[in-house]
Amino acid sequence: MARDELLRADAPLPDDDELDPLVDEGGLRPSRLDDFVGQTELKQHLEILLGAARNRRQAADHLLFAGPPGLGKTTLAHIVAAEMGVEMHTTSGPALERAGDLAAILTKLGDGDVLFIDEIHRLPRTVEEVMYPAMEDFELDIVLGKGPAARSIRLELPRFTLVGATTRTALIAKPLRDRFGLVSRLDFYEVDDLDSIVTRAAGILGVRLDPTGSHEIARRARGTPRIANRLLRRVRDYAEVRADGVITAEVAHDGLALFGVDDRGFDKIDRAILSAICERFDGGPVGLSTLAISVSEPPETVEDVYEPFLIQQGMLMRTPRGRVAMPDAWRHLGLAPPAVPPAVDQTALFDRD
Ligand SMILES: Nc1ncnc2c1ncn2[C@@H]1O[C@H](COP(=O)(O)OP(=O)(O)OP(=O)(O)O)[C@@H](O)[C@H]1O
Ligand SMILES: [Mg+2]
Repeated sequence: MARDELLRADAPLPDDDELDPLVDEGGLRPSRLDDFVGQTELKQHLEILLGAARNRRQAADHLLFAGPPGLGKTTLAHIVAAEMGVEMHTTSGPALERAGDLAAILTKLGDGDVLFIDEIHRLPRTVEEVMYPAMEDFELDIVLGKGPAARSIRLELPRFTLVGATTRTALIAKPLRDRFGLVSRLDFYEVDDLDSIVTRAAGILGVRLDPTGSHEIARRARGTPRIANRLLRRVRDYAEVRADGVITAEVAHDGLALFGVDDRGFDKIDRAILSAICERFDGGPVGLSTLAISVSEPPETVEDVYEPFLIQQGMLMRTPRGRVAMPDAWRHLGLAPPAVPPAVDQTALFDRD
């Protein structure tokens, strides 16, 4: 993507790799637990769990990390392998189509290795069933042949640590979930933590950033390290082209405004979602698929990527009858909230995650 095109106000935020082939996400990823910023409670749990496993010279317990995209699930999986000093093998739920695909990976594992399954909620049921004895007893049942001649053989597996990542805990079957020794939910990050993440990334990328500039970026990063790093790159581009290369609060403010990131950190699609609910659907409730069509995004993207932060910020709410705008959503769009807020059935709010 050309720079001019990039600097157009309505240009979509490009993917990081498109602009920065040399420093991809991997380059900014902290590799040890000590460098992992924020998520204090989760870090403590991991420190204890991994420390104890190391002392016993055993593989660590299976771990499940859940939470919205970009909060550090993959990063943590790498950290677990690094802290345990073992190999990490990576695959994902949709890539494991048949039980045989999983068997091929499991039989390659070394003692104590980490098997990372991303999007584990998309594991096919048949594969999941093979996973249960593998996780629990480190055994693999393989069926050889078909029909009456079929027979099953049992293979011993090395002790390994399964690390699963998911954006949707609610979609994980209970028997699978119960086989993890630790199920952790990652929360959106505080501004101070994002500030440290941006400052660290600026050091790695060689970006000149003053503390007011990093604060401004952190404040608008939707509580998400990946977005903080991405905004830093965009503001760096802006600073190089339009300012003298140093990122101050003012430069960050102007650069982010140019890329359509507003004062609360909402982007064009966040605002489109809010304005659809408030203006087109009178504040809701509106169903997910109708809402998704009206902002031209797939329903899963609206649900997994956009909604969690809007909900956390008190802008909208999920109800059994659909999405409802909160008074702050109207205010954010510069509109007056309705005198009587849409009815919310309090009893049924917690049926999903
Ligand atoms: N706690 C952290 N400290 C510093 N940097 C972080 C932290 N968490 C995440 N990051 C940065 O954010 C980027 C995205 O993190 P990561 O890829 O681990 O997210 P994820 O939860 O796996 O997202 P997805 O659900 O999209 O796979 C990483 O490359 C890393 O640079
Ligand atoms: Mg990931």
